[in-house]
Amino acid sequence: LPDPDVAALTAEDVDDLVPRPGAESDKYRRGVVGVAAGSDRYTGAAVLAVGGALRAGAGMVRYVGTAPPVRQVRARWPEAVITELERPSIEGVGRVQAWVVGPGLGTDDWAHELLARVLATDVPVLVDADALTIVTRERGLLRRTAPVLITPHAGELSRLLGVPADRVAAARLEHARRAAAELGVTVLLKGSTTVIAEQDRPVRVNTTGTPWLATGGTGDVLSGVGGTLLAGGLGAYDAGACAAFLHGLAGRMAADGAPLAAADVAAAIPLAMRALRGES
Ligand code: APR
Ligand code: MG
Repeated sequence: LPDPDVAALTAEDVDDLVPRPGAESDKYRRGVVGVAAGSDRYTGAAVLAVGGALRAGAGMVRYVGTAPPVRQVRARWPEAVITELERPSIEGVGRVQAWVVGPGLGTDDWAHELLARVLATDVPVLVDADALTIVTRERGLLRRTAPVLITPHAGELSRLLGVPADRVAAARLEHARRAAAELGVTVLLKGSTTVIAEQDRPVRVNTTGTPWLATGGTGDVLSGVGGTLLAGGLGAYDAGACAAFLHGLAGRMAADGAPLAAADVAAAIPLAMRALRGES
């Protein structure tokens, strides 16, 4: 018997949910995504998160970071509106409809302060990677009114809950549910299948991915896709589910039985979106 607390996600569901521009759309109404990612040591994560956001159909991407990742993002994505930060502050960056924070950000005081500023805004925030490590040290950061979507892999969730990794791996749905309840956020738990949990909703399971996605940086692309869907007006539960579906399908299409690099997944997001009709 199917578990009533678990829901599969179909291409038709995603096709219905994904925001598409109408005749009267402009870039601001389509959604402005803020990306706070990358650091002097990890510049690539910034490039991949911005790429995921742009390829998922953002009206505009505003990137904030230090000089080294800024140089990389500027070279790779002339479409992004960039603010080079001297201090960990987002004052004066301009209005955004949702933030992505964490990929490659580092976990030092500077990163901590920038994360706190992002979470102090009144817009939805997707929290990934290094930002999850910071939140593990200070859970109180997640207490806010606007939606939070966290996107841990099993190791990150294990640290967040203080539960051994093997126990999380053995009961992924349960631990995603537990994190959603304990932290009061929406949880997208990544892995060979991805599960999306939110309190009082059935857990959604996504299986569109491929093992070829197990390569560095694909998670950073996913965070950008999720940020764009939040900025486009989807709730955290729908944004998470659609991001997982499209990212997995893009991975499958990019790989087609052979290796992919994370940037290829971002490049294939539009193909995945186009294929939704064929899949449903
Ligand atoms: N089958 C299908 N999908 C998979 C599989 C698999 N076997 N393995 C991984 N994936 C997908 C996941 O669902 C997720 O979407 O690939 C993506 C991997 O994301 P992350 O685990 O965040 O990995 P990565 O992009 O390398 O992260 C870079 O950030 O979170 C930190 O510790 C992480 O240092 C690493 C960095
Ligand atoms: Mg990651």
